[in-house]
Order: sequence, then structure tokens, then C-alpha cells
Amino acid sequence: MLAVVVVLFLAAGVSESVILSKCELKRQLERGLTLPAPNSTDILAQIVCHVELTSGFNTSAIKTIAEPEEHSIVQGSRHRRSVKGKGPRTTPRPATRAPRLGSDEDKSEVWTLYGLFQLSDHVVCRSTQSHSLNLCGLTCDKLIDSDTSDDIACVQALINAVSAPNPDPKTSKPIHKMISLIHQPQCITVNTTSFFAGC
Ligand SMILES: *[C@@H]1O[C@H](CO)[C@@H](O)[C@H](O)[C@H]1NC(C)=O
Ligand SMILES: *[C@@H]1O[C@H](CO)[C@@H](O)[C@H](O)[C@H]1NC(C)=O
Ligand SMILES: *[C@@H]1O[C@H](CO)[C@@H](O)[C@H](O)[C@H]1NC(C)=O
Repeated sequence: MLAVVVVLFLAAGVSESVILSKCELKRQLERGLTLPAPNSTDILAQIVCHVELTSGFNTSAIKTIAEPEEHSIVQGSRHRRSVKGKGPRTTPRPATRAPRLGSDEDKSEVWTLYGLFQLSDHVVCRSTQSHSLNLCGLTCDKLIDSDTSDDIACVQALINAVSAPNPDPKTSKPIHKMISLIHQPQCITVNTTSFFAGC
């Protein structure tokens, strides 16, 4: 009886935070994603590693960060100029390797990152507070409910957009920007075999 209730609860996709296990997320991604061969398992491990470090597998994770200067993102620079005249810090610093708040030009905007994959309200979804490309055609609250299918579909859309033979710079550039923003350096070297041991 309880199991039935739980299943119905999850099927309804109600906005309740769920903490997935590593293996459960792996299973869901294997079912829901089509990754470029041949090393798709390594890519999968990197994605799951990223989820572990950014959202802690929490489907309702939400975080705000300051948008870094465009040129430093494009060049992937780790050595940004130090910040002159820091503005008041209005948002908590994420645990990730995050951009500093307040750019030199004071142009930096706050991005809100939603859900398991910590996707940006400026790029993939639409929230009331920001202009967005809305590449995934979602309202951002869809990315923080317990229904992960639209989150995974959105990741697929991002992968498709950047791996297209002739990526459209209008979409691939902001996607790369978002990826560099939420990028977890440790995940590049993750050992797939040991990372998924026990799954
Ligand atoms: C996948 O393989 C390509 C070429 O063999 C390599 O450049 C790339 O880094 C690999 N990706 C991952 C995630 O291991
Ligand atoms: C998941 O994240 C949400 C939003 O930050 C938080 O309210 C919730 O307590 C978290 N869930 C767990 C189990 O940590
Ligand atoms: C990954 O870890 C496994 C088990 O710990 C080990 O046998 C293997 O050599 C490692 N692979 C690489 C590429 O380091």
C-alpha cells in the first residue's frame, strides 16, 4: 500500500525535493539520454559527477551566482582580474569554483541555477526575473520538482545543440558559457569504473 502511494506520489511529479542515489541517476540518464559514442559511459560519469558536486543529487537544488565577465568565460580563464570596489554580496557563494561577485564594470548579473543539473535561468528556462534564451522551453520551476524527465530532456537538448555539426553560435555560445560557469574540474578526470562501482 505504501509503495503504491509512493509511486503515485512520484508519478504526479509534485514539487517535493528528492535526493537521488548515484546509481539511480545513472539509470535514469542511460534511459533518457542519447550520448555521442564511443565513450558515452565516461561522459555519463562526468555528468553524474557534476550533479553530485553541484546539487548533491537534490532535485530541488537552487543557487544564485554572479555572471562572470564574458571574455573570461570565453577564454576559460581561471585568472580573472581582482575585483575593484566590491559591491555588497547579496548571494551566497556556491561551493563550486565560482565566479566572483561584482565585475569591474558592475555589469554582472545574477544567474539562478536550478535543479539536479544546476541549469541557468538565463539560458535554458524562463523565470520571472530574467531574460532568457529559454532553450528548453520550460518555466524554471519545472527544473526543481521531483520529475526529472524534463531536466534530462533539457540536458539532451544542450548536448544536441553543442554537438551539432554546425552549432548555431546563438545557442552554443551561451551553453558553453553556462557549462564553464558550472563546470567541475574534478569531474574531467573521474575514473568511470571506480565512480560507478556498485551500480
Ligand atoms: C571521448 O573520446 C574523445 C576522442 O577519443 C576524447 O577527445 C574525449 O576527451 C573523450 N571524452 C571523455 C568524456 O572521456
Ligand atoms: C534540497 O534542496 C532544497 C532547496 O535548496 C532544500 O530546501 C531541501 O531541504 C534539500 N533537500 C535535502 C534533503 O537536503
Ligand atoms: C580506474 O579504477 C579501476 C578500479 O579502481 C582501476 O582498475 C583502473 O585501472 C582505473 N582506470 C584508470 C584509467 O585509471
